[in-house]
Amino acid sequence: MAIAHPNIALVKYWGKADATLNVPAVPSVSITLDALTTETRVCFDASLATDSLCMNGIELAPTSEQARRITACLDALRTLTEIRLQARVETRNDFPTGAGLASSASGFAALVVAAAAALKLELSLADASKIARAASASAARSLFGGFAELPAGRSGEDVAAIDLAPAEHWPLEVVVAICAEGPKAVGSTRGMLDSAATSPFYPAWVEAAAADATACRSAIIERDFPTLASVSEASCLKMHAVMQTTRPALLYWNAATMATLQRIRELQQAGIEVFFTMDAGPQVKAICAPGCGRDVASALASVAGVSRVLSSGLGGPARLIDSSCA
Ligand code: PMV
Repeated sequence: MAIAHPNIALVKYWGKADATLNVPAVPSVSITLDALTTETRVCFDASLATDSLCMNGIELAPTSEQARRITACLDALRTLTEIRLQARVETRNDFPTGAGLASSASGFAALVVAAAAALKLELSLADASKIARAASASAARSLFGGFAELPAGRSGEDVAAIDLAPAEHWPLEVVVAICAEGPKAVGSTRGMLDSAATSPFYPAWVEAAAADATACRSAIIERDFPTLASVSEASCLKMHAVMQTTRPALLYWNAATMATLQRIRELQQAGIEVFFTMDAGPQVKAICAPGCGRDVASALASVAGVSRVLSSGLGGPARLIDSSCA
């Protein structure tokens, strides 16, 4: 059994340099959370005719999009061995799946670690990260704990995430305001392809991304909260500007999202060190300086439309926790 945690990008990934290899067009920088967890068990079994997949207690149809992506990821690992057996995969998230909380990031990171162990493959972190990236680019970052970066690539290139700093370097706190519980309307892969093809802002977004990643990296190394807040909010708002100017428009926010952003602005004006980021869904992630999470959680819990808040610290890397059937 392997576990992995979702990660939240501060400088965002949105856009592919190579859609077939799933190589990002922009660099991204993330933090890995400790309070949300995916657990995945993989057993290769000679009695199975196809991969058999169970997610959160529900069997996935082999023809479903999720099953297809999981099998493609298992195939990438099987081709590195002589083993051609099919696998039983059981995976469970202790947080909402497919709702803008990066369940695909923790899901594919845990899958690669569990399946590689079951196949007795000794993968380097970089190789594990590349295989996870091919399935879901943000998953490449969940192989690492603390702060990680996934560089941009070019067409035909194979890129892996890199470790920037461990969680202890700067124990930021994260409060997630749940603004809607359901799954997101448009998945990130479809959305990114549409954005690249139709948003007039997409070229400017790609052009500025390297400078944002550099500023974010330095702010993390220097533990400079105001700079991290400024670059992260700007990257998030630019990504959502690209999304909103895509055709058909990608409108991931709801009224509670907007009310939460305004509450965070008030907290900032009151001197609390906090900033926001959002992904392909309505949830708002409030990133807090060490020690500020409690006040932010109680302020966001009372925002109209927020059903609940989740509080987290920064977590460790994806890892094997027992090797019975990996
Ligand atoms: O890796 P994907 O395909 O789930 O895309 C993730 C995209 C965002 O969550 C919106 C941004 C990011 O960098 O995580």
